Amino acid sequence: MKNRILITGASGQLGEFFVKSLIQDNNYVLATDIRENKSLDCDFEFFDIFNFEMGDQLIKKYKINQVYNFAAILSAKGEKDPLLTWEINNAGFINIARLCLKNDIKKIFWPSSIAVFGHNSNLDFVKNDEAMLPETMYGVSKLACEKVMFYFNSKNLIDIRSIRFPGIVSNSEPGGGTTDYIIDMLYHAKKEKNYTCFLKENAFLPMMHIDDAIDASIKLMKIDKSSLSKRSPYNISSFETSPSRWLDLIKSIGYDLKMNYKVDYRQKIADSWPKKVDDTALRKDIKWSPKYNDLETAKHIINLIQL
Ligand SMILES: NC(=O)c1ccc[n+]([C@@H]2O[C@H](COP(=O)([O-])OP(=O)(O)OC[C@H]3O[C@@H](n4cnc5c(N)ncnc54)[C@H](O)[C@@H]3O)[C@@H](O)[C@H]2O)c1
Repeated sequence: MKNRILITGASGQLGEFFVKSLIQDNNYVLATDIRENKSLDCDFEFFDIFNFEMGDQLIKKYKINQVYNFAAILSAKGEKDPLLTWEINNAGFINIARLCLKNDIKKIFWPSSIAVFGHNSNLDFVKNDEAMLPETMYGVSKLACEKVMFYFNSKNLIDIRSIRFPGIVSNSEPGGGTTDYIIDMLYHAKKEKNYTCFLKENAFLPMMHIDDAIDASIKLMKIDKSSLSKRSPYNISSFETSPSRWLDLIKSIGYDLKMNYKVDYRQKIADSWPKKVDDTALRKDIKWSPKYNDLETAKHIINLIQL
C-alpha cells in the first residue's frame, strides 16, 4: 500500500529533502509547518503541532497513515529559550503521539540527536546505549522523548522509529544548531570569501550528508520490526570534522575562504557532544552504510548552492 505521510516542521532544514525523497519513493506527502517554504513541491497546510483539533482534521482529510515528526527547536536556539524548547519538543511529541493513537496511525519517524549525550558519555567514541546526561535543554528534551518512545514501543502502542542525527549537511538554511557552521562555511566560500566561525578550529563533531540521513531513515521505516534490535533510537555515523579540517577540504576543491574565529556559547555545547559515535547496531540491522565521505559531501553540496 502507498503510504500517506504527514510531515511536521516540513519547512525546516531537513523538511524539503525528506519531502522530495518520500515522494520519489512513491508515497503521498502532506507537508505542514507554522511557516511556509516555497520550495516544497507537495500539498502544504499551516499546522501548529499544539493544535490537536486541526491535526485530527488533517489526518482524516488526507487519510494519513504515517507521520514524520520534525517540528522542533534545535540546540543553539534552544538555549535562548529553554522552556519553549521543552514545550515544542516534548509537548509537541506527545501531541503527535496522541493524534496517532486516536487515528490508529501505527508508525512514526522522529529524529533524535547526538545532543542526548553529555560529558559522562565517553565522548571519543559513543556507543548506542551509552550513559546520557545532556547539557542543553535540546538534549534534555530529546532524551525525555527517547524514554517515551521506548515506552510506546515496549507496550506496542505505536511503532516509533528514530535515529540520533549528527550535524546534517545540506544546501538548505540551517535552523539554529551547533553544527550550522558546516553549511555556513560552504555558503561563504561561494559568496563573500570570509567567514567568522563560532566554534574553535579544532572542535571535532560528527556530520553527514543529507542524502545519507534520508536513505537510512527510509530504510529504517521500511524494515520489518523483527529485524530491529533497538526500541529506542539508533546512533548513526558518517564522518567527523572540525572547522579547520572543513576549511582544508573547501580549499582543496578550489574555493578560497578566509576564516576568523569568534568563539561563543556554542563551543560549550560542542564540548559536551560526541567526537565520534558507534553505529554498528544500525548498520547491521538495516544493512546501511553512508555513500558520501567528507570530501564528496563538500563537493556535492557546494555545487548545489545557488546564490
Ligand atoms: N539539522 C540537523 O543537523 C539535525 C541534527 C539532529 C537532529 N535534527 C532533528 O531533525 C528535525 C528537523 O530539524 P531541522 O534541522 O529541519 O530543524 P529546523 O529548525 O530547520 O526546522 C524545524 C521546523 O519546525 C517548525 N516548527 C517550530 N515550532 C513548530 C510548531 N509549534 N508547530 C509546527 N512546526 C513548528 C519550524 O517552523 C521549522 O520549520 C528536528 O527534530 C531536529 O531536532 C536535526
